[in-house]
Amino acid sequence: MPAPTAAASLRVEPATRIVGHVAVPGDKSISHRAVLIGSVCDGETRITGFGRSADTEATIRAVRACGIVVDEDGRETLRVHGAGLRGLRPPAEPIDCANAGTLVRLLAGLLAGQSGGTFDLRGDDSLSLRPMGRIAEPLARMGAEVETTDGRLPLRIRGRPLHGIEYELPVASAQVKSCVLLAGLYAAGETVVREPQPTRDHTELMLQAAGARVAVRPGVVSVAAAERLALGEVAVPGDFSSAAPLVVAATLVPGSELHLHGVNLNPRRTGLLAILERMGAKVTVYNRRSIGGEPAGDLEIRSAPLVGTTVGSREVPVAIDELPLFALAASFARGESRLRGAAELRAKESDRIEATVDALRALGVRARGTSDGFVVTGVPSRLRGGHVDSRGDHRIAMLGAVAGLASGEGVRVDDADCVGVSFPGFFDLVAALRREAA
Ligand code: S3P
Repeated sequence: MPAPTAAASLRVEPATRIVGHVAVPGDKSISHRAVLIGSVCDGETRITGFGRSADTEATIRAVRACGIVVDEDGRETLRVHGAGLRGLRPPAEPIDCANAGTLVRLLAGLLAGQSGGTFDLRGDDSLSLRPMGRIAEPLARMGAEVETTDGRLPLRIRGRPLHGIEYELPVASAQVKSCVLLAGLYAAGETVVREPQPTRDHTELMLQAAGARVAVRPGVVSVAAAERLALGEVAVPGDFSSAAPLVVAATLVPGSELHLHGVNLNPRRTGLLAILERMGAKVTVYNRRSIGGEPAGDLEIRSAPLVGTTVGSREVPVAIDELPLFALAASFARGESRLRGAAELRAKESDRIEATVDALRALGVRARGTSDGFVVTGVPSRLRGGHVDSRGDHRIAMLGAVAGLASGEGVRVDDADCVGVSFPGFFDLVAALRREAA
């Protein structure tokens, strides 16, 4: 399998089985947060297991543009020289957030609290279509000066004295929650965020580790104004969202036995495991441990026949980036599967309801989109194969690759290079796993 080049198409041939022991890259959400929070700490933050990808490299570039020194001691080890809570300086040029929603939303929270200057944020074509009103609105309520372009990028922020608010998230979004909490570090009094459903809590965990006063109760997180933060060391566990395509591949390809080591198993991230378990998948967790203050462990996946299931709104935030893979698993499951309460998928790197349904239909699956999810009628046999247009969305490209492994005739993935947004070595790893089984 050749290395992907710009906008390359790649063909993924059917696998006889998926076997091996592998580790996946460091968690993208935690890697973004370590660099961003490290940049406003006092002193050095040493990050190991950093998940290097196009998205997290955009974060390194963004904080460097604001005057922060980041030393790269190899691919996975960084030292971020924090400039203190109010040490970010406005660059002359707009800050390019590329494809990274987490970067733009979280950075905006930190910039709102800086003591002066104007920060402009922009992104690529996909990020420029995504909603930014959801962060501008609470930041403005805290006293920040934020201008969007009709609710989207480019975004302009001027640091102002902030005050705490009580904010009820209109959508279950960890990015919006994190933006408000980070601005809350700078806000007089207390900032309280209520979330309709539990979303990933990496920001809360890392802020606590950095010495911020963060209180967590069911459905409510609050943060008090901070004087100084210090992280010291951050060890980043493997990314569950990068492990997920391999979990699904090994589940679907008969005769597989795959071990994934050092994976983040924060329960706010692993909703797919509960869904797959309901469907009959055989995934065992062993060597449970803590990596960088996050629950982690090793996974053993053996192939298994699946039955259809329904996923509702409570499970959506804890499986949000894995829902396209749920649809793929559902294509192989006996009976009908449904997803409800997932309209947020339309606001991701692509409209992931449409992109997922179109990808599956192109492979011969019976699937249809609904306003807030999809319905898939599965057939417990190999998919025919065909071609999948990733629409420049890394999660859809990975869905196409896994479909190829589990197909009868292979799948061509168009615009495959976009996997580099979260998992640059993905196709090489897929090729290695197929080789090992041969
Ligand atoms: C992320 C939160 C999720 C997820 C995204 C990463 C984060 O977005 O889809 O890939 O790091 O906080 P929302 O919280 O906006 O749903």
